[in-house]
Amino acid sequence: MKVFINDKKYDAMPEETIIELSDRVGIHIPRFCYHKHLSVVASCRMCLVDIEGIKNAQPACSTPLREDMKIYTKTEKTKDAQKSSMEFLLINHPLDCPICDQGGECELQDISLEHGDDHSTYMQLKRVVIDKDVSPLVSTDMTRCIHCSRCVRFGEEISNVKELGLLNRGEDMKIDVFIENKISSELSGNMIDLCPVGALNNKPYRYKARTWDLREQSGVSPHDCIGSNIFYHTYKNKILRAVPKENPDINQTWLSDRDRFGYEGIYSKDRIYKTLVRQDDKLVELDKQLVVNKISKLINASIKDNGADDIGCLISPRSTNEELFLFQKLFRGLGVNNLDHRTNECDFSYQNHYPIMPSLGCNISDLDSYDNIMLIGVNIKSEFPILSIWLNQAAKSNTKIYSINFDASNEDFDLFYKKTIDNKELVSLFLNKESDLNLDKNQKTLVINGPSISRLSNQSDVLSAIHKFCLNIDANMGFLTNDCNSTGAWITGNVPHRGPAGASVNKNGLNSLDMLTKKLSTYVLFNLEPELDFHDIGLLKKSLKDSKCNIIFTNYITPIIEKYADIIIPITTFAETTGSYVNIEGTEQSFQNIVKCDKNIFEGWSILNEIIAKNNLGSYEYDSIRDNLVKSIADIDYTLMSLSSHSLTKEYNNNSIFVLTKRHIYKSDSIVRRSESLRLTKQSELNTVFISENLQDKIHQAGPLIINGFDTERLGKKFVVNKKLFNNTIIFPSSDYEYKGPKSANIEFQS
Ligand code: SF4
Ligand code: SF4
Ligand code: FES
Repeated sequence: MKVFINDKKYDAMPEETIIELSDRVGIHIPRFCYHKHLSVVASCRMCLVDIEGIKNAQPACSTPLREDMKIYTKTEKTKDAQKSSMEFLLINHPLDCPICDQGGECELQDISLEHGDDHSTYMQLKRVVIDKDVSPLVSTDMTRCIHCSRCVRFGEEISNVKELGLLNRGEDMKIDVFIENKISSELSGNMIDLCPVGALNNKPYRYKARTWDLREQSGVSPHDCIGSNIFYHTYKNKILRAVPKENPDINQTWLSDRDRFGYEGIYSKDRIYKTLVRQDDKLVELDKQLVVNKISKLINASIKDNGADDIGCLISPRSTNEELFLFQKLFRGLGVNNLDHRTNECDFSYQNHYPIMPSLGCNISDLDSYDNIMLIGVNIKSEFPILSIWLNQAAKSNTKIYSINFDASNEDFDLFYKKTIDNKELVSLFLNKESDLNLDKNQKTLVINGPSISRLSNQSDVLSAIHKFCLNIDANMGFLTNDCNSTGAWITGNVPHRGPAGASVNKNGLNSLDMLTKKLSTYVLFNLEPELDFHDIGLLKKSLKDSKCNIIFTNYITPIIEKYADIIIPITTFAETTGSYVNIEGTEQSFQNIVKCDKNIFEGWSILNEIIAKNNLGSYEYDSIRDNLVKSIADIDYTLMSLSSHSLTKEYNNNSIFVLTKRHIYKSDSIVRRSESLRLTKQSELNTVFISENLQDKIHQAGPLIINGFDTERLGKKFVVNKKLFNNTIIFPSSDYEYKGPKSANIEFQS
């Protein structure tokens, strides 16, 4: 279809509106209520344009194009219409620009400069709206609100959490909260970006800088395996805020609050800025020049005295691909086989049957092409908020979503089927052909294993049962992993039984749990937080206490590190290093350092490279590591990606009690856990232990008893009965709760 804008001919697409075409071809039309990801309400009238043959100017956002339409964006009629709309909007708008954080990036400021008038004929007093404190993350100055309703539509259409509403009419109209008097969704910060004025703003950033002084640097989320794209804004080498960087295939134009405010943790007080070594049971500073030498000496002495098999090397899957690649290169080069990144797991008999790398099973943007999506062991809303937006879109386009989980948390999208279950029943459910999971083989189904599955003491059986189920109904099987670069950790060979890209190894090493139970003489921990990242903190403490040498590369000095480390090497966070992650759909994304690191901190990949060179194991250029990795991903044989079945390994006692520590959105990694702003959220207050109804009396009767670090007497005072939980289930709220036993266990009560 051909149309004309300002007398120039353009080809329009069917059902395109004037504003969509003008945006596509780069013709500016002012707007407030229109947003390309939200429904059209045409309420602000800022986009009025002159159309040949129509007496009054028409809103470009809601007017569809038709053959030979002639639109004029610069005529007097257009200008007059826009000027009138502008004057109307400014009637009640305060002159706050000098103290408004939106200044410099304000759509109202920009549009009034270009399309407004330099005086107002309105003489009455301006209206004032009293503000409420509605969120620790979003500040409100509602007198500045122009009632565009973008924030309201975001809740209705995108996050599916209706927190803000347009109340009253006329002069009394206002945007207000109507649920619990709070904005508390895990995606609330997106309303800050959507608000075209300074009515909704970034509270932690308030009055910290003027926007024109900020420097912008792109990054990739280090907080989950989705890999949202982010712009970090810095001032004087410090990150002051984060905003979404559009990526239509990953995070669209949105960002979770965890990704927006999580960076604050890099400025935590327990960040470590110098290398410390233990001398006479005290930690003393070591000159930076001596560090590589010292680490090399410690490792080589350990190999000489106890052999390479007596060293356990554990690395966080939050490390970059470059760090992960060099970590295994260094230790395999020295003959060490005990390498692992799966520190939160406790059942590894699945490992030989596992794909070369975990993957979602499809592209994130293809989720809505499935007839059925089954989520197992995951609460998307609180673990992967960005995915909640994609699944909300899928649910709206008729994908049936099934949720099978251990706790009874709600989702923010419509569920077709919901079941709470324990880890034993999960196996039966998927092996039982008569179960109520009757999915049609002819439909397209994706079955996603969430991170909680990886923590189960019967993980292998669960995966095997789910895999058999997938084969029966021709479904794709996918994973969502605990950390941002678990995929990279698998590809780079940070597992005891495989080298990079799944290559075979000379000798299988010990998995992370065996490394701790077998009490090795030396442990190397890279980017791991002992208090947060291990399946069993009690066991870890014992192993570190009994070992001869603990070499710890870390961002933070924590009580366990301070007590047991022999050398503590401060390393960069994601913000201070160049690196890359592979997200859960297999997309490799690289990033530059956002700020410069302190002069005494080591860039993770760089210090590993120096130790490699020191030990004559070669030297790696940064670019060559990346090129190798990209090639490894390209070479992966995806026909091997499905999980092979193996026979069940566990015997199940139906009376045992299933204990699980729930992953907590704002304690999901060491950086986000230290974000001051996120600590103030409603989610961070969740500290309740939930037990199933049938356990209420049993726990009281058990009396003072500690099983696996699990204190029944203390629990008896704290629990809340949740009738929706499966029988014999106890759910702990987060991994740094006072419960220090294993993160998941099946335990027996003796009364
Ligand atoms: Fe000025 Fe925009 Fe703030 Fe209004 S919202 S006070 S126009 S910067
Ligand atoms: Fe629009 Fe902002 Fe007002 Fe919401 S608060 S209606 S986004 S101006
Ligand atoms: Fe068209 Fe608001 S943008 S009416």
